[in-house]
Amino acid sequence: MKILMVCLGNICRSPLAEGIMQQKFNLYGIDAQVDSAGFEPFHTGDSPDDRAIKVALKNGIDISKYRARIFQTIDFDRFDRIYVMDENNYNDVTREARNENDRRKVDFILNELKPGSNDVVPDPYYGRLRDFEEVFDLLDQATEIIAKKLQKDS
Ligand code: 4NP
Repeated sequence: MKILMVCLGNICRSPLAEGIMQQKFNLYGIDAQVDSAGFEPFHTGDSPDDRAIKVALKNGIDISKYRARIFQTIDFDRFDRIYVMDENNYNDVTREARNENDRRKVDFILNELKPGSNDVVPDPYYGRLRDFEEVFDLLDQATEIIAKKLQKDS
C-alpha cells in the first residue's frame, strides 16, 4: 500500500499527515509507504513550516528533513490512495486525473473519521500554534483509522 498526502503548500498539513502516518506504520509494523505533495510552487524544496516541525516534535515525530514538492500526474501511478485535506486540494488533484481509476484513488482524509462527510482539515498557515495542534489531532485520529484498517487487511 502506497499512500500520498496532499495539501496546498506541502509545508503544513500534508507533511504532518506523512509524519504521523509513517510513525504509525513503524509502530504497528505495517509494510506500507507514505509520501506527501502540494500544488503551490512557492514553497518547493522548503522544509516544513517551523510550527509544523515543532508540533510534530512535541509528539516524538521528526519531519524537519522533509522537502516540499509539487504533485505530478505520475503520482496516480505511484500511489494506491491519495488523501486530500480540503476541497481545493480535491479539485487540484482530480483535475489531473486521467480516468475514473485515478479519480477513485482520491478522498478527503477526514472521511476516514466521518465517512462521506467531506470534512476539511483547516489550513493553519495564517493561524497560530494552537491551529497546528488541532490539525495534528485531526490527522492523528484519521491516520490511526487508516493504520488499523491496514493492520487488519494484512
Ligand atoms: P499547507 O498550508 O497547504 O497546509 O501546507 C499552506 C502553506 C503555504 C501556503 C498556503 C497553505 N501558501 O499560500 O504559501
